[in-house]
Order: sequence, then structure tokens, then C-alpha cells
Amino acid sequence: MIEPVMQTVVRYHQFGGSDVLRFERIPLPRPLEGEVLVRVVSAGVLPVDWKIRKGSFPMPVQFPAIPGTAFSGVVEGTGPGVTAFQKGQEVFGRSAKGTYAAFTTAAVDAIALKPESVGFDEAAAISGGATTAWRAIESAGVKAGDRVLIHGAAGGVGLFAVQFAKCKGAQVIGTAGPANIDFVRSLGVDVAVDYMAEPFEHAAQDVDFVLDTIGGETLERSWPVIKRGGTLITITGKPPVERGMEFGIRVLPSSLATREDLAAIADLMDEGRVKAVVQHAYPLSEVRQAHERSEQGHGRGRIVLRIES
Ligand SMILES: NC(=O)c1ccc[n+]([C@@H]2O[C@H](COP(=O)([O-])OP(=O)(O)OC[C@H]3O[C@@H](n4cnc5c(N)ncnc54)[C@H](OP(=O)(O)O)[C@@H]3O)[C@@H](O)[C@H]2O)c1
Repeated sequence: MIEPVMQTVVRYHQFGGSDVLRFERIPLPRPLEGEVLVRVVSAGVLPVDWKIRKGSFPMPVQFPAIPGTAFSGVVEGTGPGVTAFQKGQEVFGRSAKGTYAAFTTAAVDAIALKPESVGFDEAAAISGGATTAWRAIESAGVKAGDRVLIHGAAGGVGLFAVQFAKCKGAQVIGTAGPANIDFVRSLGVDVAVDYMAEPFEHAAQDVDFVLDTIGGETLERSWPVIKRGGTLITITGKPPVERGMEFGIRVLPSSLATREDLAAIADLMDEGRVKAVVQHAYPLSEVRQAHERSEQGHGRGRIVLRIES
């Protein structure tokens, strides 16, 4: 078989609306030392992807930029020094080189073998969803009997946080819109609060831990419902450490998952204890619609792009 040398990617050359996203043909990337070349099967659409595209996320961007960090796919080649993975293995994880592409490269520390029991779409929902939730629940030290409040319990991060907190034996209060109340209950939420119908403060008092995936007023109203000595993690901005000190609350940063975290998540999925939820799978040709849908900020689970190479 002739190896492909060119590939189709989505790129943008300037910040802007979804109309800056273009389809372009570029050479395949080469895996460097410690990297693998992956044929991308599905790419997760994370809110940060369109925030970066709009120029509203505080990070430097080099143009032209290929969006996306989360992916699942198949190893097509390995860079120098790589022994942990081999061609043909199905993997998932994070790439720093862009994943809205037929091929990408990823560091071996940022990928793991795809759980056998889940499809590629579900596996593309793990990085930036399950990984963020996992780090939050682990670093907060959530344990059996804790009362945990998860804002945005139906979202790409929140739905995993609910399940991980339940695995720890915590009592979980989750906020969601009216269309997602039954859904978050099905994930294991003990007390589901429709944020459109009632203030979460009615249901959540003296909680040990808040995971905030919403920010703004939702974050600000969360302080009084946390016990003194409790913990808050927000994934919507810089950790508000000083504000936490005013309430005697420990504020922890969000952190990146390690290779061990990825493997632990994959195991929980294979054991059937945790599931991924895909809101909608778009073909890569509908990348603009995928971004526009994610920008609405509502829905259930992760949006993914299917890459046909
Ligand atoms: N720092 C990090 O490492 C990190 C990682 C991942 C994500 N993030 C950030 O975290 C945020 C959430 O990410 P995501 O991937 O979970 O987003 P997502 O998949 O788009 O989910 C957002 C969820 O928020 C819910 N929601 C909207 N308004 C709400 C409110 N007032 N109260 C409660 N729920 C509300 C929506 O549910 P309804 O449809 O029911 O309204 C939706 O399910 C984004 O800002 C993202 O950029 C940060």
C-alpha cells in the first residue's frame, strides 16, 4: 500500500467566527522523539477550541492553527525512542499539534490504549472531559460520604465528574437545565437541581467540594455553600485563591492528566463503571456547525468530529 504524504486538515489563519475555519491540504506531520503518528478517527470538540479560534483564550497562537487537542485513532508510526506503542494500536488522548486533521502526532505520555469496550467517538470524549474531571476529583481528595456539588453535571466534564465522585462513594448534587435533569440522575446524581427552576443554594449546603464548570455568578454563589475547610476547583478561569481564603476554602488549580490517569480512566470504562456520552458526531466537513453548536453552551455530553481519511 502506498503511504499517504498529504492530508486534509481544518485550519484558520486569523481569529474570528466559525467562518475562519478552512479545509486545507498539507503534508503529514513527522513524529519526533517520544511521539507517535496517529491516524485520527474522532476528534473531541472542546469549548476551548472555539475560545482559542475567537482569540478569547489567553494563550499565544501561531497561525495557521489546526484546532483540537482531544482525539482517538490508530497508531501509524513511531518516532525515535518509542517502545511503548506500535503501529496498529488503537489509542486516545491529547495532542498539542491539532486534531481536526486526518493525522496528528502526540507525545507518548499524553496517550493510552483505547478502552476495548468503547467506540472511537466515546474515546475522543475522554481527553479534556474525563481527564479534567478525574484530576479534579483526585486532587480534591473526594472520599466516601463527602457531599459534592457539580455545576454543569450534563456537560463534557461534569458528566464524568459525577460518575467519578459516585465511584468514590460521595453524595452528589448536580446542576443542569430542565432537559438534562433525568439524564444527570441516570449518571448517579443524588440530588439534581434544575438551575432554571430553583437556586442551587436550596439543595446544596455544607458541601465538602464544589467543581465549577460554569463560572461567573455560579462560581460566586458557590462560596457560601461550602463548609469551612472545604475545597473548590473552577475550570473556567484562574484559581480564585484569595477569594477562597475569605471563606476559609481551599482553592485548587485544574491539572493535566498523566499517562497513569488515562490508563485508570480507560480501566474504569472497560469495567463498565464509567461511561462517555457523545452529544452528536459531525463529519469533519461540518466542523463549522460543530463549533456553533458547542458555542451554545448547552447540551448533553461531548460533540465529536469524525475524520474520514
Ligand atoms: N481548565 C480546564 O482544564 C478545562 C477543561 C475542560 C473544560 N474547561 C472549561 O469548562 C467549561 C465547561 O466545559 P465542558 O466541556 O463541560 O462544556 P460543555 O460540554 O459545553 O457543557 C456545558 C454544560 O453546562 C451546562 N450549563 C450551562 N449553563 C449552566 C448553568 N448556569 N448551571 C449549570 N449548568 C449549566 C449545560 O447544560 P444544560 O444544557 O443542561 O444547560 C452543558 O451541559 C468550559 O468553559 C470549558 O472551556 C476547562
